[in-house]
Amino acid sequence: MGIKKIRSHFLVLFVLVLSSLAFCSVRGSVSYDGRSFIINGKRRILISGSIHYPRSTPQMWPGLIQKAKDGGLDVIQTYVFWNGHEPSPGKYNFEGRYDLVKFIKLAQKAGLYVHLRIGPYICGEWNFGGFPIWLKYVPGIEFRTNNQPFKVAMQGFVGKIVNMMKSEKLFESQGGPIIMSQIENEYGPVEWEIGAQGKAYTKWAGQMAVGLKTGVPWIMCKQEDAPDPIIDTCNGYYCENFHPNKPYKPKMFTELWTGWYTQFGGPVHRRPAEDIAFSVARFIQNNGSFVNYYMYHGGTNFGRTAAALFIATSYDYDAPLDEYGLPNEPKYGHLRDLHKVIKLAEPALVSSYPAVTSLGNNQEAHVFRSKSGACAAFLSNYNPQSSVKVTFWNKQHDLPPWSISILPDCKTVAYNTAKVSSQSSRIKMTPVVGGFSWQSYIEESPTSGDGDTLVANRLWEQINVTRDSSDYLWYMTDVNIASNEGFLKSGKYPVLTVMSAGHVLHVFVNGQSTGTVYGGLDNPKVTYTGSVKLRAGTNKISLLNVAVGLPNVGPHFERWNTGVLGPVLLSGLNEGTKDLTKQRWSYQVGFKGESLSLNTISGSSSVEWEASLSAKKQPLTWYKATFNAPKGNDPLALDMSSMGKGQIWINGEGIGRHWPAYTAHGSCGGCSYAGTYSEKKCQTSCGQPSQRWYHVPRSWLRPTGNLVVVFEEWGGDPTGISLVRRTN
Ligand SMILES: *[C@@H]1O[C@H](CO)[C@@H](O)[C@H](O)[C@H]1NC(C)=O
Ligand SMILES: *[C@@H]1O[C@H](CO)[C@@H](O)[C@H](O)[C@H]1NC(C)=O
Repeated sequence: MGIKKIRSHFLVLFVLVLSSLAFCSVRGSVSYDGRSFIINGKRRILISGSIHYPRSTPQMWPGLIQKAKDGGLDVIQTYVFWNGHEPSPGKYNFEGRYDLVKFIKLAQKAGLYVHLRIGPYICGEWNFGGFPIWLKYVPGIEFRTNNQPFKVAMQGFVGKIVNMMKSEKLFESQGGPIIMSQIENEYGPVEWEIGAQGKAYTKWAGQMAVGLKTGVPWIMCKQEDAPDPIIDTCNGYYCENFHPNKPYKPKMFTELWTGWYTQFGGPVHRRPAEDIAFSVARFIQNNGSFVNYYMYHGGTNFGRTAAALFIATSYDYDAPLDEYGLPNEPKYGHLRDLHKVIKLAEPALVSSYPAVTSLGNNQEAHVFRSKSGACAAFLSNYNPQSSVKVTFWNKQHDLPPWSISILPDCKTVAYNTAKVSSQSSRIKMTPVVGGFSWQSYIEESPTSGDGDTLVANRLWEQINVTRDSSDYLWYMTDVNIASNEGFLKSGKYPVLTVMSAGHVLHVFVNGQSTGTVYGGLDNPKVTYTGSVKLRAGTNKISLLNVAVGLPNVGPHFERWNTGVLGPVLLSGLNEGTKDLTKQRWSYQVGFKGESLSLNTISGSSSVEWEASLSAKKQPLTWYKATFNAPKGNDPLALDMSSMGKGQIWINGEGIGRHWPAYTAHGSCGGCSYAGTYSEKKCQTSCGQPSQRWYHVPRSWLRPTGNLVVVFEEWGGDPTGISLVRRTN
């Protein structure tokens, strides 16, 4: 190599170094200390909101993100949904509602940051807590503990997501919007329960995450022993008393619950806007520098994505943006006004810790001052009953009960958390398409036969057989009754007892439905007991067990079993009680209509449908109809109040499970914003369906000829179904 060449190489190298330096200076940096995050050298009080991309449609994302921006958010927070992205090992899906990169880039385009909670355990009332079902069947696996097969799988997925973000240049360190990530999720309580193996796992998870070198901080929520440099954070209704485990970590509220989720059979929860604002202000005045609303937009558990324990299809959460993406007023506006005032106070907030003085028995002032003269004050009244007059800087201030006034210049009150100036929403659900021309197709309850392929002399665990490809598993067996059985003469029929681990059990004898039992919110287990009209000769017993989603929470929820686990007993025979548990059982996963894809446009014509509606109130019935899309852009929903339980599809897209027949148990009463909130406090819909309306995304409709398919498990009256327009 000649001298000249070396010189030119040096020159190239020199230019490269220079340009990379220049590039570095436009790249972002995110760091933190005990006061706040520091983004590109600027200290920030960050307001964030959770919007989960698969709980809405890509067509809704720009509008939701823009409303989040207009509502004063700085950050969008989302989980990453492993079971949506890797439905079978190594087969990835980043399309449609799972187009994570598109979602993040839309946030970036709107000028928002992103907090990416990779997990990959996410809880979230999402099926199996976000884990793919195949993970349960990896040999030797134990979830969320110091278990090699689990750690290998987890590292694989987390690495996959981090690499994807890096190659799209989405971390702030690369000029992208992601300013922080999360590993694991609310693991502290589990670690506490399982001990040393849990501790080792936490340490491993932290090191693994940090080793991925994203260039932005990692957090762990509800994890007191989060290893450095990972920040431990707080989730709850209030977090003012939380302290991170090191003085050099910022105080973060990663989940401020704006309401609560709905369960089929449970009431709908509301959390007053005044109390949410109070919780935010109380957190900020006590050194808090990051608040995330969980949820800001809750959205919908489409298809079969809702978790077990009867999680409803609606994940509205009483969030500031409702399930349909409309502002939930006055919550949306009241929090937007709060964010404006926090922005005004930000220069003072980030420059100091507060000086706290007492203004009375239950009243305080928190004053923040910067060296350059900025000043902000929070005047608080913690008394839930009475308003008080306090004196601050020689001025009198009225503080309503349970409220905080914010003075962004220490002189003028710009906001009080209990004084709402936004108007309440006036939600209307107006029918736009009614009287669908329904056709019906009735499923026969299957019975055991000689040609059955799934057969065993025992009862199988349900998920092992279905691999969650359907909610439904049939357990079928025969009972031979000799002609000398006493009950044939006495008419005192034998009693069948079936124990199921949940969630719903339908019993059919000789093709006739003899009863349905379903679990309650505290206990999914069910037992069917009923006398059954058996006849001499062979009797066909078919048990339809329904798993309404997989669990999303609890130590070792991979060990959770469901299905008819037994015993199955028949009593009142000449021999006394006969145990059917260990006799020959045949199995069928799901329904014929499911295997024929009756829910899709192409599959829906593969059976003969009845045009007349003889099939009202008939269990195990498919209904279909076509309709034209209503004009305009207002969100749409199906009013299912006349139906029982089942699933809905439009043009093959899963609207979700419907279960309006499960009405809300609980006590609904008054709702005062003042005083410590719990989800028991402001309940609504008692005695009514827990969920009556089911969101139909506009983008799933074509102008004409849309196919709606309903599978009804219990029996309902489809003539009562209507398509409604939602306005506020
Ligand atoms: C805020 O943080 C500082 C520094 O850690 C601490 O001294 C002070 O007590 C905290 N103030 C409040 C109100 O939490
Ligand atoms: C799981 O199902 C298979 C058949 O698909 C069966 O051989 C096995 O015994 C089942 N295991 C359990 C625990 O039910």
